[in-house]
Amino acid sequence: MKITNLGTRANASFYVACELYKQMSQQSHSKLGLATGGTMVDMYQFLVDLLHKNQLDVSHIETFNLDEYVGLDAQHDQSYHSYMNQVLFKQYPNFNPSLTHVPNGNADDLNVEAQRYEDLINQQGPVDIQILGIGENGHIGFNEPGTDINSATHVVNLTESTIHANSRYFDNENEVPKQAISMGLSTILKAQRIILLAFGEKKRAAIEQLTQNEVNSEIPASILHAHPNVEIYVDDEAAPKS
Ligand code: PGA
Repeated sequence: MKITNLGTRANASFYVACELYKQMSQQSHSKLGLATGGTMVDMYQFLVDLLHKNQLDVSHIETFNLDEYVGLDAQHDQSYHSYMNQVLFKQYPNFNPSLTHVPNGNADDLNVEAQRYEDLINQQGPVDIQILGIGENGHIGFNEPGTDINSATHVVNLTESTIHANSRYFDNENEVPKQAISMGLSTILKAQRIILLAFGEKKRAAIEQLTQNEVNSEIPASILHAHPNVEIYVDDEAAPKS
């Protein structure tokens, strides 16, 4: 696992957008694992720019998002369906909607939906590049501290720390969903290549924990030590000091 400080959010976002662009342009049927959150916004903007400039045909690219809140309609402005439409799929409409997958957090039976999503990834995968952010508590996807290392896509109870961190996107903390459907840690590890992005001082402690080179279930991102092909890009503020 290599942690590289690219100085600024803009530098790192552009670099990762270029890596995704390269993957898609070299393999027209690429499978991408996509992430949401504040960290990713600039990266998607750079990517949309590259796609427009080069008019890349992405109609055969298949995407799998990491997670979705439980109980939000896909049209809700804070659902991850909406996020992806806003930052990528509506910006570059050449993506085929039948190939852009996000778990359905409004399914009648959430466990059946989690299994369906896991099966879909297993059938269509492996994912070529999985993009990840990281929570202040070290979560990846919505795999909170203590998550089983062998977990498949599952229904998750969000921790207070995550609910609080994500309340900045809602009118108030009570509106933040308490559950999500998330790819599990074992699902994430099936990707061929993993790229994690972290920006800002609030993420530094989580990144520093990763430098300690061991898998610890209290820091879900530490599972990435078990994967042979992981890159982590940070800005000055998130770069480890120790
Ligand atoms: P953020 O979320 O990009 O909004 O900070 C990242 C995460 O919680 O994984």
